[in-house]
Amino acid sequence: MKKQFSNKLTKLNLIKNQNVIFSYIKVLLKKHPYFCVIILHEYFRNLFPHDPHIKFKITNPKKRINNLQINLIKILKNFKNIGYYKNDLKKSNSKEELKKKTGKVYGKFWKRFSNKENIYAKDFILERFRNFKSFKNNFFENKNIIDVGCGGGRYSNALRLLKAKKVTGVDYSDTGISTAKKNYKFKNISFKKQNVLKLNFKRDTFDIVFSNGVLHHTSDFKKGIKELHRICKPGGYIYLYLYGTGGLYWSARRQMNKFMKLIPQEYSQRVLDLIGMPTNRFIFMDNWYVPYERHCSHKEIYKILQSLGVEFIEKMKIGRKTDLETGLFNYKNSEIIWGEGEIRLLIKKTD
Ligand SMILES: C[S@@+](CC[C@H](N)C(=O)[O-])C[C@H]1O[C@@H](n2cnc3c(N)ncnc32)[C@H](O)[C@@H]1O
Repeated sequence: MKKQFSNKLTKLNLIKNQNVIFSYIKVLLKKHPYFCVIILHEYFRNLFPHDPHIKFKITNPKKRINNLQINLIKILKNFKNIGYYKNDLKKSNSKEELKKKTGKVYGKFWKRFSNKENIYAKDFILERFRNFKSFKNNFFENKNIIDVGCGGGRYSNALRLLKAKKVTGVDYSDTGISTAKKNYKFKNISFKKQNVLKLNFKRDTFDIVFSNGVLHHTSDFKKGIKELHRICKPGGYIYLYLYGTGGLYWSARRQMNKFMKLIPQEYSQRVLDLIGMPTNRFIFMDNWYVPYERHCSHKEIYKILQSLGVEFIEKMKIGRKTDLETGLFNYKNSEIIWGEGEIRLLIKKTD
């Protein structure tokens, strides 16, 4: 098989090169799993606008990614002749329901988080919300807030630190809920095991409904949005973060989510630990092992919200340094890489 690469900075060529990398990886997965984890981690981290741990030498993202693609293709091409030991890595074939499987994948991450790492969550919220015109410093103050799909509770706790009156965190994962309960024992914060698609709360209950990166892992994100809207008070706000679509980045995620499951999660985690990846940086593992990852367009989300009678939607146009929308804002024609970016919306339920 003759693999060519191209250094033309067009969308087509960047995609072609990416496909060449992935086709090599698929061949090497069984013989050299450690190597594939290292290569894909390197590729994936370069697909972000900024890496907080290692400075990018080439700042222009298209140039940088193309340069890396060419280097990786050269390495992969030569690596195929390297010797290997037989291993008996087995893919998990469990037929658990989607929610349980997703909960288990994330549960592993929450257990590894320390309180210190969880504390960063408050800064993450502020760095992002400051870019919403509707945000004022007292936005969360004295509010009754729900964190839907709270995982290990890092954002529930951050909302408490931002002076919420009461925070309720809900998640389907047993490990998530038990970790959150253990780490955050405060009188105005509580955690409950619940399914985001069928929340056990009355209509119009919360001042703010916060949901960060959850609905795109469920079987029906439309139903999920309806649930968030139902439990929000009229005049209250919903913060919704969902994965976007389009571009090299989302196409890479879609493909890796399919083939990386051939390497067990624990194995990849060990390799990433060996190369020194910080524990709180689980974006790679998250994409590789979560059973279901849906990529949404702004248009389809807006359509659902409008059908619910929502009149006010504010889109985050620029976020933290690592956020795709920041990349899109800072580099011309970068939708080739990041497509629509990520979907971060502040939605007001009509009074
Ligand atoms: C990417 S994590 C985000 C966690 C948290 N919001 C954060 O940003 O740290 C996704 C979370 O959604 C939860 N989840 C997925 N499907 C769910 C469902 N149907 N009901 C409740 N939680 C669910 C998972 O257990 C996981 O904790």
